[in-house]
Parts: sequence; structure tokens; C-alpha cells
Amino acid sequence: MTVARAPGKVILFGEHAVVYGRPAIAVPVTEVQATVTVEEKSTPGVIVHALDIGQTVDVLRASPREPLSLTVRNALRHLGLTPQQVSLSMTIRSSIPVASGLGSGAAVSTAMVRALFAHLGHPVEATVVSAIVYETEKIYHGTPSGIDNTVIAHERPVYFCRGRPMTTFAVRRPFWLAIADTGRPSLTGEAVADVRAAWRRDRAEYERIFDQIGRVVEQARAAIVSGEVSSLGPLMSENQRLLRRLRVSSPELENLIVAAHDAGAMGAKLSGGGRGGNMIALIASGDADRVRQALLAAGARRVIVTRVG
Ligand code: MEV
Repeated sequence: MTVARAPGKVILFGEHAVVYGRPAIAVPVTEVQATVTVEEKSTPGVIVHALDIGQTVDVLRASPREPLSLTVRNALRHLGLTPQQVSLSMTIRSSIPVASGLGSGAAVSTAMVRALFAHLGHPVEATVVSAIVYETEKIYHGTPSGIDNTVIAHERPVYFCRGRPMTTFAVRRPFWLAIADTGRPSLTGEAVADVRAAWRRDRAEYERIFDQIGRVVEQARAAIVSGEVSSLGPLMSENQRLLRRLRVSSPELENLIVAAHDAGAMGAKLSGGGRGGNMIALIASGDADRVRQALLAAGARRVIVTRVG
């Protein structure tokens, strides 16, 4: 039996604008993860059991656009194999909430690809994993920028610009985030499609907003690299103001942002596709318990506190 894992992720700055070629910053979140086990079975083909969602997929029979089977087929193709040539049973477990902006789809695909390569005795580079996962992300999200597969496959802080090789960066001084789930699903594909429709109606205005978000991202990267953590809070709030103008925030997200600020957070914003999903707040490590309690009291389904750097 072979086991492989992959973490979740949060986008710190730049979601949505990143789809339009502006930069974005994302970090892995190891407090949640997808785990995939692979075992031999007696008959040819690949069966995938997604335990958390009660789904079983027979790769030989699944439609070509079924995401789990597509991931298996693409990974095997990379090794010169077809599903008929192997006899495997795969089991997926994940503690990453689905449709929450934490990259559950990309994490499951990443753990699947890693597990398949490891089981079949082939080392695999993160860039290859990322490219295979990106094909599945297109099924989940329509026109993904590629940031989710990149940060999860590389498991490092990522400064990402669509179409360019990924770059990582050093975090000079660690900082802490509270990640709070609104409990409302974040349908990334839908939010991305709505932003695209609005951009088509008023390109000049949307391009201006994307440019402003891009500038926030550049300032945030400089602040993280030079250890000026105190600048990050205001930059998060500025990014959130611009995301509101893209109409991807929601009352549930705004409610948690206010609660985080009231509890002493230095800045807060939605993370990922928006509308629902998770909010992230920059906090002092000593405030973690207080902010966590305040967010839960304000209705957060779950709060993760994570250290970046
Ligand atoms: C999703 O995690 C982030 C978005 O920017 C979409 C994408 O980059 O593909 C909303």
C-alpha cells in the first residue's frame, strides 16, 4: 500500500486579478490535508473511492470529464500507461472542506498524482504534478489561473503570475493568520465566470481594479520579504476593498471580517473565489485564542490558526 498527502492553501493577496495576468501570493496550509492510499486489486482497471463524499468512480467506465478519473488517466499517461494496464484501488480522505477556497480539489488531485507515481515506483517533480493537476482544475473551475495547483504541488509560498514559471520567496519574519469558514460554499467557477461577464461589460473599469490589486500584491511581497509585517494588515484591507468592487464578497464574509477586526486583527479579507468560503485575518500570535473565540461567536463554522514562515 502507498500513501501520499497534499496540503490545503490560502491566497494571501491577488485572487481573481490573477486570472487576468496580475500577480498573486499564496501559501500552503498544512493544518488541513488530502490523503490518498493506493493498493493493488485483482482485476484490471482503477477504482477510486472518495470516502468523504461517498463517491466511487470506475476509471474505465467514467466519462472523460469526470475529474477523479481524468486525474488518474493523465497521471498514468505521463508514465506511458493506460488504466487497463494496472490493477489499482485508490482511497481518498480529506480534511479540507469542499468549496471553501482552501484548494480541496487541487489538493485531492495532487495527492492522487503523488500516490500513483510513488506506487508505480517513479519519482515525480512538483512542476509535473502541478501540470497534471492543472488539467483537472480546468474541469472544476473553467478558466483557472493555475495558482492553486502551483502552491499545493510545490508546498511553498508562491508568487504567481499566470503563464510564467512559479517563483517562491523568503518570509523574513513569520506571521499568523486566522482562517475562518463562513459555512457558505464558495463556488469558484461561478465567481470567476461572474467576474468575467462583468469585465466584458466594463473592461476599462475592471482592468483598473485588477491593476490596483496587482500593485497591492507587489507591496505585500516586498513587505513579507523585508519582514515589515505591520504593513500587511492595511494591504489586506485594501485588497478586500478592491474585491468588494469585483462583487465577490458577501454578508457572511463581511460579518467575519468585522468580527476579526473587533477582536484585534490587523487586517482581513476573503481568500479564494469568495462569495462564501474562508476569510483570512492577520493576527498577533498572542491573540489567537481571543480571535478564534470571537470568530466562532460571530458564526464561523471552523477556525484554523496557521503560521506563515
Ligand atoms: C481560486 O483559489 C482563486 C481565483 O483567483 C481563481 C483562480 O486563480 O483560478 C478566484
